[in-house]
Amino acid sequence: MAVYLGWKVNGESTGAGREVALLEYIYDRPDLEQLRGNPRKVLDAIDNFAQTKVGLINVGNSKGGIVCGVMAEHKPSVMLELGGYMGFSAIMFGNALRENGGSKYYSVEKNPLFAAIAANLIDLAGLGDVVRVVVGTGAEGIQRLYDEGVFEGRPIDMAFFDHHKPAYKTDLKLCERLGLIDKGTVLVADNMIIPGNPAYAEYVRATVAEKREKDKVAEEKGNANLVYKSRSVNGFEPSGGEDAVEITECLGVEA
Ligand SMILES: C[S@@+](CC[C@H](N)C(=O)[O-])C[C@H]1O[C@@H](n2cnc3c(N)ncnc32)[C@H](O)[C@@H]1O
Repeated sequence: MAVYLGWKVNGESTGAGREVALLEYIYDRPDLEQLRGNPRKVLDAIDNFAQTKVGLINVGNSKGGIVCGVMAEHKPSVMLELGGYMGFSAIMFGNALRENGGSKYYSVEKNPLFAAIAANLIDLAGLGDVVRVVVGTGAEGIQRLYDEGVFEGRPIDMAFFDHHKPAYKTDLKLCERLGLIDKGTVLVADNMIIPGNPAYAEYVRATVAEKREKDKVAEEKGNANLVYKSRSVNGFEPSGGEDAVEITECLGVEA
């Protein structure tokens, strides 16, 4: 099976500019017209670039397939992604959301250049009306969408965390404070082995009693009363390394 190429030598990034090169590569392809409106062909073209030119940090087909399985089971109508990068996951999951009858996928990306490339590729894949790219940190994006009223006072059906690792927990707590997590919300967090995220794993696996205790001294509070059921599912990075996603379901609120 073809794997993504690397982009680091002695720990230093050698891939500067690779994201712009990806966009140029896609638009130089002789089969460009066949990519229009075809999410799978756009994903394959992104994979081809990362397998033959220089690696990218997409979730990839193995772990992405796990997330699509969770989506097929829970059929989210509204889904939030933190960490959009080149739009690989937004195209894969935005398409799955549409196929399952969902309405909107919000992809928050801190880097404005990455967000612009992602929005372009999402549009090329024919998902411009389903996926909205929001430029900002996870916290800024969540707050802006909330203030705009896009969630209409309802919880999010599903969220995918794939951004700054320490922000998984703080951004989840922000969602909790805003009332965006409730019974039935499903959270998926990437990179639980590579590089790992013990603080997040500990939080979503803690009991309500444990969270209440920790909240007494926590700088940022969430909603300690939310009951989570969480499990780790193994998959592979597109570069071939073994990784895992944490899948967490909110079972309700403990009084
Ligand atoms: C691993 S990549 C996301 C890959 C993407 N989900 C995919 O599978 O196609 C992480 C992305 O998070 C972005 N990022 C880093 N810190 C962030 C933050 N605090 N809020 C939002 N995005 C952030 C980075 O710019 C990068 O594009």
